[in-house]
Amino acid sequence: MRLLITGGTGFVGRRLVERAIADGHQVMVVSRDPVAARETLGSEVTVRDSAGAFVDDKPEAIVNLAGEPIADRRWSDSQKTRLLESRRHATREVVALCEQLAAQNAAPGVLVSGSAMGYYGDQGDREVTEQTPPHDEFAHRLCEMWEHEAHQAEAFGTRVACIRIGLVLDAGGGTLAKMAPPFKLGLGGKIGDGRQYMPWIHREDLVRIIEFLLVRDDLAGAINASAPNPVTNAGFTRAMGRHLHRPTLFFIPGPLLKAALGEMSRLLLTGACMRPRRLENAGFEFRYPTLDDALAAIFGD
Ligand SMILES: NC(=O)c1ccc[n+]([C@@H]2O[C@H](COP(=O)([O-])OP(=O)(O)OC[C@H]3O[C@@H](n4cnc5c(N)ncnc54)[C@H](OP(=O)(O)O)[C@@H]3O)[C@@H](O)[C@H]2O)c1
Repeated sequence: MRLLITGGTGFVGRRLVERAIADGHQVMVVSRDPVAARETLGSEVTVRDSAGAFVDDKPEAIVNLAGEPIADRRWSDSQKTRLLESRRHATREVVALCEQLAAQNAAPGVLVSGSAMGYYGDQGDREVTEQTPPHDEFAHRLCEMWEHEAHQAEAFGTRVACIRIGLVLDAGGGTLAKMAPPFKLGLGGKIGDGRQYMPWIHREDLVRIIEFLLVRDDLAGAINASAPNPVTNAGFTRAMGRHLHRPTLFFIPGPLLKAALGEMSRLLLTGACMRPRRLENAGFEFRYPTLDDALAAIFGD
């Protein structure tokens, strides 16, 4: 398959690129810095700085993951604009490519496009499926815009699946790169009252979900991409302590976090008990269904 990936240099994208090459696909990546991306991804990958530059390569499938990282900076007005505009721009480029290719009767068959659990906003402890109405807040508006832009590709005959991704867990980056160091020092602990849900997914399973959606012609629309056993922050904290063999006696008071991070503290203090209802109904089998399975594999304990 000729597969085009935006955000292919990222934490998820890098693993997707590796697996796609191993599976014999022809892999193309959009990166803002093609020279650095070629160094990271190797010579088998064709890298260019815009989706439109791949029109002659006629990608058959597209995975759209590019965007300003959500948790790297406080959500000032200008940072919110960067978060929104980076995703709008990347996704519009992809849709424009679909339009150009459709004009040559070569529209990509499928676009798997990013979104996040943040689509649902704060949902307390109720169970959240793809049918659950969202809570209106910035994370929701960001994801809704991202999904809306991706769905424009349907006008050109491309199937569109938007993956509402949970916290992606693996060694070498992502959430655990930020969370594990204090835990390793014995300084880990609950955040706020610890009752907020943290839907999560092992990176390997997320890449398998993307591959599943690329080939399953019957699946389109919103897909919750998280493990079937979400945990609360308190449960996550206990599991980290168990797997790293450290106490987890500390805790970060909610008001302190709000003062330090402003609105971005909602990423840590609120959540959704997101369930992968549609993937389960479609017969997707998780390799890491529980957090203990995932952390045991990651920490090798
Ligand atoms: N990791 C998670 O826990 C998680 C959870 C929920 C949703 N997601 C979403 O899933 C997607 C993939 O996640 P990830 O962890 O692989 O992301 P990531 O490591 O932050 O990588 C995303 C890629 O996007 C590109 N990028 C970064 N800033 C950009 C900007 N300002 N404008 C345009 N492109 C930019 C970069 O590629 P170049 O530098 O090569 O251009 C980067 O490699 C992200 O959009 C993220 O929001 C991730």
